[in-house]
Amino acid sequence: EKQGFAHYMLKEIYEQPRAVASAIEPHVNPETFSVALKNVGFGGVSVQKLDELDSKADWAKTQEMFKGIERVFIIACGTSFYAGLIGKYLFEQLARIPVEVDIASEFRYRNPVIPPKTLVMTISQSGETADTLAAIRMAKEMGATTLSVCNVRNSTIDREAHGHLYMNSGPEIGVASTKAFTSTLAVLNCIAIALGRTRGALDEKTEAELVKSIMAVPSQMEGVLAFDKYFEEAASGLKLFRGFLYMGRGTSYPIAMEGALKLKELAYMHAEGYAAGEMKHGPLALIDERMAIVMVAPTDHLYEKTISNLEEARARGGKIISIGTGDNEKLRAISEYYLAMPKAHWTTHALLSVIPLQLMSYHLACSLGYDVDQPRNLAKSVTVE
Ligand code: F6R
Repeated sequence: EKQGFAHYMLKEIYEQPRAVASAIEPHVNPETFSVALKNVGFGGVSVQKLDELDSKADWAKTQEMFKGIERVFIIACGTSFYAGLIGKYLFEQLARIPVEVDIASEFRYRNPVIPPKTLVMTISQSGETADTLAAIRMAKEMGATTLSVCNVRNSTIDREAHGHLYMNSGPEIGVASTKAFTSTLAVLNCIAIALGRTRGALDEKTEAELVKSIMAVPSQMEGVLAFDKYFEEAASGLKLFRGFLYMGRGTSYPIAMEGALKLKELAYMHAEGYAAGEMKHGPLALIDERMAIVMVAPTDHLYEKTISNLEEARARGGKIISIGTGDNEKLRAISEYYLAMPKAHWTTHALLSVIPLQLMSYHLACSLGYDVDQPRNLAKSVTVE
C-alpha cells in the first residue's frame, strides 16, 4: 500500500520520523533519559522467545558481555555498511572501544584475524544477504560473540546471531534503503550509549544529553522532509550535471558515500562519495563547472576545514550543493543550493542530513523517468553473492 504516495520509496522516506521513534522506543527511558537495551537474548534463547525474557536479567547479561569485550567488528553490505561506518564513530567516541568496519564480501574471504573478546556485529535490513550471513557464520566458528541488527525478525541472519537487535522500521519495499538506514543509526546510537555507560566511558549527565538528542530526531526530521518540494523543483536543473562529488568529514563522510550510492542506484548518474580531507589527493582533478559538489558541512569541530575544502572546489569551477546547520550566510553565499539542517548533536546529525540526499536522488530519478522503486539490475534482497 503506497497510501497516496507516488512510490514506496517516497512513502518510506516520509515514514522515517516514526521508524526512528520505533527503533529507539524499546531501549530508551524517556523519564530518566537513560538507555537499557531491551531483550537482546545473549543468554541463548530462540528469536521467537525474546519477548518472554525477563528484561532486567537480560540487560544484566548484555552488560556483562559489553564489559568483557575488547573490540568490535561491524560487518555489512551497501547502505548497511555505511551505517556501520557511522557506528565506528559513535562506538569509538562514546565507548572508547576500537572498532573495525568491513564489507561482508571482503571480510569473509580475507581470513581475518578475530582475537578473543571480539564482538562481531552484523547489520542487515533483510537479514538474508548472502555475504553478511556467511560472515556471521564464520565469525561464530572462529569463537566470536555475534550481535545482529536486522529489520526482518526471524530472518536467517537474525536466527544465526547470539544477540538480537531490531531496526523496527516496518517493511521496506523500495529497493533503495531509506528508513532502515536511519533506524539503524538510531539503534547504533542506543548501542553506543549503552556500551559507553556500561564500560565507564560515559557519565550519567552525558548519557542524558545523548538520549535527549536521539529522542529529538523524529520531530527534527519532520522539518527536514520539507526539502521534498525543494528538490521536486530543483531536479530539472540538477540533472544537467555531468557528475556529483559528495564529501564530508566525520560521520558526514559515510553520509557522503550513502548519498552517492543513492544517486547511482536511482538516477544512474555518476557519483562518488569522498572524505573531504582526501579531495586534494586526487578528486580535485575531476572538478569543473559541470561537476556538482555535494558538501555535508554541519557547524561542528571540523566545519572550518570543510569550508576550506569547499572554497577550493568552488575555485575550480565546481557548483556547490551544501548541507549546513541553520541559517548559514556564508554557506548560502558560496552555494548554488543551500540546505539548512536543524542544530543537532554530532551523534544524530547524520540521521537528518541523509534525508535531503535521499530526496534529491528520488526527484532526479523521477525527472529522468526511471523506476525508483525497482531500479534496473537490482534486487531488494541479495541472497546470492
Ligand atoms: C542500497 C541498498 C543496498 C543494501 C544492501 C544490504 O540502497 O539497499 O546497498 O543496503 O544490499 O542489504 P541488507 O541490509 O538487507 O543486508
